[in-house]
Amino acid sequence: EPEVIRDKAAMRTWSRRRRAEGKAVALVPTMGFLHEGHLSLVSAAVAASAGPVAVVVSIYLNPSQFAPTEDLATYPSDFAGDLRKLAATGVVAAVFCPPDLYVRGSADGPSAAGVSGGVVSCLEDAGGHAHETWVRVERLEKGLCGSSRPVFFRGVATVVAKLFNVVEPDVAVFGKKDYQQWRIICRMVRDLDFAIQIVGSEIVREADGLAMSSRNVNLSHEDREKALSISRSLVDARTAALNGSNHSQQIKDQIVQTLTEAGGQVDYVEIVEQESLVPVERMDRPCVICVAAWFGKVRLIDNIEIQST
Ligand code: PAJ
Repeated sequence: EPEVIRDKAAMRTWSRRRRAEGKAVALVPTMGFLHEGHLSLVSAAVAASAGPVAVVVSIYLNPSQFAPTEDLATYPSDFAGDLRKLAATGVVAAVFCPPDLYVRGSADGPSAAGVSGGVVSCLEDAGGHAHETWVRVERLEKGLCGSSRPVFFRGVATVVAKLFNVVEPDVAVFGKKDYQQWRIICRMVRDLDFAIQIVGSEIVREADGLAMSSRNVNLSHEDREKALSISRSLVDARTAALNGSNHSQQIKDQIVQTLTEAGGQVDYVEIVEQESLVPVERMDRPCVICVAAWFGKVRLIDNIEIQST
C-alpha cells in the first residue's frame, strides 16, 4: 500500500529519508483520474532507475493552469479509484496529494491578475493574491497549445517547479501525450539547473487508437467515435510522410480536412521540430505532428513523432 502524504514538509522529509536509505526518488506528477497512460509512467519511472527506487505519484488538480473559462469545474476525479490503481501496481511507495500547493488568502499585495496581461488563471480568480512568482519558458510556451491557452504553461511550469522543490526527486516522468509540456519541462530543468533527470514516456492509446486522457470520459459516445479521426489522421500522415510526401502544408491540410469531415473543430494542426518546436516547412528532420481539436465540449490533443523521411 502506498503511503498517502498530504503535507508538503512531510513529503520532503519522506523523500530525504528514502534517499538516506540509498534509494533514488522518482516523481510522476498527475492531476488524478488515473488511467493506463498514467500507470505507464510509473513503470517508466522504475525502468529509468538502475538501482533501488522509491516512486512518488502526485495527484493535484492545479488551478493555476486553468483559465476561468476552462474545465477545472468539470475535470473528473476519483481519489479512491486512483489509490486502488496505484496500490495494484505494487511499485508506488507514496502518493502525494496536497489539499493546496499555493500560499493563499492573505491580501498582502496587489492582485496577481493585474500583472498577468489581462488573462487570469483560476488561481488568481479564486483570490490567490499571495502567490506572485511564476516560471515562464518564454518561447516554447507560446506556440501550439499556448496560443489558445495563454496561462496554461505558466501554470504547469510553476506547479512542476513547486513539486520538484517539495519532493526533490532524482527522476521525473512525463508523457509525450502532452508533447509541448514535456519539452517545456525539459527546458525549464536545463535553464534553472534542477538536478533532475526528465524522462519522456510514449503515448498509451485505447485499442481503437484514441490517446488515453482523463478528459475522454466527458465525451459523448458519438463524439468519442468522431474523435478517432485524430489518431487515424496522424497515422495516415505518418504513412504519407514515410512514402516521401514531406511538404508540411499538404500534410496539415489533409489532417484538417479529415478532422473537420469527422465533425471536429480544429484548434491547430502543426508540424514542428521535435526539440525546439519550431514549425518546419518540410519534414526533412526529426519532427512531430501536433493536433488539438474539439469534439463536443471536450478539447483533445494528440501527436505523432516522425523521425525522418
Ligand atoms: P495529467 O493530465 O494528469 O497527466 C499526467 C501525466 O500523464 C502527464 O505527464 C501526461 O503527459 C501523462 N499522460 C496522460 N495521458 C497519457 C497517455 N495517454 N499516454 C502517456 N502519458 C500520458 O499533465 C498533467 O496532468 C499536468 O499538467 C501536470 C504535469 C500534473 C501539472 O499539473
